[in-house]
Amino acid sequence: MKTRQLGRSDVTVPVIIAGAWAIGGGYWGARHDASAIAALRRGLDVGMNAIDTAPIYGLGHSERLVGQAIAGRRDDAVILTKVGLRWDCDDGELFFEGKHDDGSPMKVYRNARPDSVRLEVERSLERLGVDVIDVVQVHWPDPTTPIADTMGALATLREEGKIRAIGVSNYDVEMLKRAQSSLGDVPLASDQPKYSLLAREAEVDVLPHCAAAEVGVVVYSPLEQGLLTGKVTAERVFADDDGRRHRATFQPRNRAVVNAVLKNVVTPVAADCGATLAQVVLAWTVAQRGVTAALAGVRGAEQVDENAGAGDLALPGDAWAAIDAAFTGLSLDLDDGATKK
Ligand SMILES: NC(=O)c1ccc[n+]([C@@H]2O[C@H](COP(=O)([O-])OP(=O)(O)OC[C@H]3O[C@@H](n4cnc5c(N)ncnc54)[C@H](OP(=O)(O)O)[C@@H]3O)[C@@H](O)[C@H]2O)c1
Repeated sequence: MKTRQLGRSDVTVPVIIAGAWAIGGGYWGARHDASAIAALRRGLDVGMNAIDTAPIYGLGHSERLVGQAIAGRRDDAVILTKVGLRWDCDDGELFFEGKHDDGSPMKVYRNARPDSVRLEVERSLERLGVDVIDVVQVHWPDPTTPIADTMGALATLREEGKIRAIGVSNYDVEMLKRAQSSLGDVPLASDQPKYSLLAREAEVDVLPHCAAAEVGVVVYSPLEQGLLTGKVTAERVFADDDGRRHRATFQPRNRAVVNAVLKNVVTPVAADCGATLAQVVLAWTVAQRGVTAALAGVRGAEQVDENAGAGDLALPGDAWAAIDAAFTGLSLDLDDGATKK
């Protein structure tokens, strides 16, 4: 598996990183802990040895599973987690409302206040069972807290040796600049934006800025939650508790539009290089300018094997433009009735 340095930090990551959101349950429905742990361990074996998690994923459950998976193999793993979303106190700005497993209401707040950042990092260290976390990222901007205050707290934790590198997620360019200037000589290691063949907004300014400023970029949802693997056929039914059941991109017309492009344009490329659709999509993603790595959510060892296989895949020369053109011309119906190009 190809590896790359994360910005100017001393952290190196494989180009395909294991995403640990789905294994926490919640939006993704039922949890399967044994296969989740087996998947993450398989990742350590095949070079997909960086794992992206967050306290909010399963309200601590994802981090605990990651801790179990890396137990006894800490030196083999690169751990990325996050701070800034709290479900257990109501400081900050309300982000969304949901439900706990027992059905009781839950409110999640954006909270990147210094005291909260420290508390979250202490809790993550405990759940993960480690002495130091490789990368801690601010999950979403918190408009109630100056970025300089959040960065100050993270820089102190770094000085104390509790974290190795500082990242952010879902930040725009102005926020990225403010974060770096607050950190002074300490590098802002990474940003984590959404980016896929169906969601290319980051190309406008976030990816060019990060490339120029030497900030690493680890992109999320590169497979569009499975839609870009070709395995979401018209017949596939998501369980009642799987959030994709109601997501606009998975509605029948959108599945048909996406699957037609996968069949007509991506399948011939995949056949040509002996790869699967998911592998071609991931290889395309990590080859884009400014992208350091892609976070591919995995729930089982077979998905790890497949996605890790994209890490060394070279696409034929004429494939890039064909894939680019096919997806650029797509129009999907979104939730709000708008059309996404
Ligand atoms: N910073 C943020 O705000 C943010 C937001 C979202 C995600 N993330 C991070 O990014 C990671 C990835 O994003 P994501 O989970 O939204 O989406 P994703 O990686 O695009 O899709 C993951 C899902 O696709 C399916 N899948 C994966 N590999 C497959 C394969 N080879 N063949 C068929 N299906 C496959 C699995 O679903 P099935 O259950 O159908 O198998 C899996 O759960 C997350 O785990 C999380 O770490 C961060």
